[in-house]
Amino acid sequence: MNILFVGDIFGSAGRRIVREHVGHVRAAHNVELTIINAENAAGGFGLTPPLAEEIFDLGADVLTTGNHVWDKKELIDYLRAAPAASRERGRRVLRPANFQPGTPGYGLYEGTTASGVDYAVIQLQGRVFMTPIDDPFRTADALLAGIKAKVIVVDFHGEATSEKVAMGWYLDGRVTAVLGTHTHVPTADERILHNGTAFQTDVGMSGPYDSIIGVETDLVLHKFLTAMPGKFEPAKGNPKMCGAVVTCDPATGRASAIQRIMLGE
Ligand SMILES: [Fe+2]
Repeated sequence: MNILFVGDIFGSAGRRIVREHVGHVRAAHNVELTIINAENAAGGFGLTPPLAEEIFDLGADVLTTGNHVWDKKELIDYLRAAPAASRERGRRVLRPANFQPGTPGYGLYEGTTASGVDYAVIQLQGRVFMTPIDDPFRTADALLAGIKAKVIVVDFHGEATSEKVAMGWYLDGRVTAVLGTHTHVPTADERILHNGTAFQTDVGMSGPYDSIIGVETDLVLHKFLTAMPGKFEPAKGNPKMCGAVVTCDPATGRASAIQRIMLGE
């Protein structure tokens, strides 16, 4: 069974390059489960319900987000409108599971593929160089205790490579894949860990690579050079779709291969 995970869609350039490639990648790899991180899809900041619908229309089964999940207020109602037990699209948009209790939305989705394979997607967020939130390691333990599916994919949205590598080893043998998001720079360390978990520290963003992690280069450089505030605008140049294709045994959830992908225009 092949799983496609697409890294953080950034702005209109990111949406366009994903629209261009996601269909043929899904077909070429006979992908059964497609997970897309969409936290920067709306102009680089957050996700709106219409854009979530647009990305679902491309064939995504589950969308993940991250620290920018609340940037567009209308997403809160979209998440709240979907009942916990439903399979509605709003229920299939995740925010990190280790946000404080009572936060809108969910960090876990359990579903079934078209061929009848049960799966779970968990999103967690790191705490190193990020807003202090609940412990992602203990949150993972608590969620895994209640999941019956063998195929389990974790999007770990984190800043520090050390924390993401730590999560990979912590969950090795307990989930199918731990895939990092948030830094927007793909790492070349994709591998299968000792007990059968596919891992990559960061799959990279799907967005404009002639930029500073998605934002217009001049605007970010100005901030670094002057330390003055300024408005950030999403860049457009050199878009690439980044992600990973994970191959696993649907009966055990054990991964056998992970392939990094980066596709330009
Ligand atoms: Fe992020």
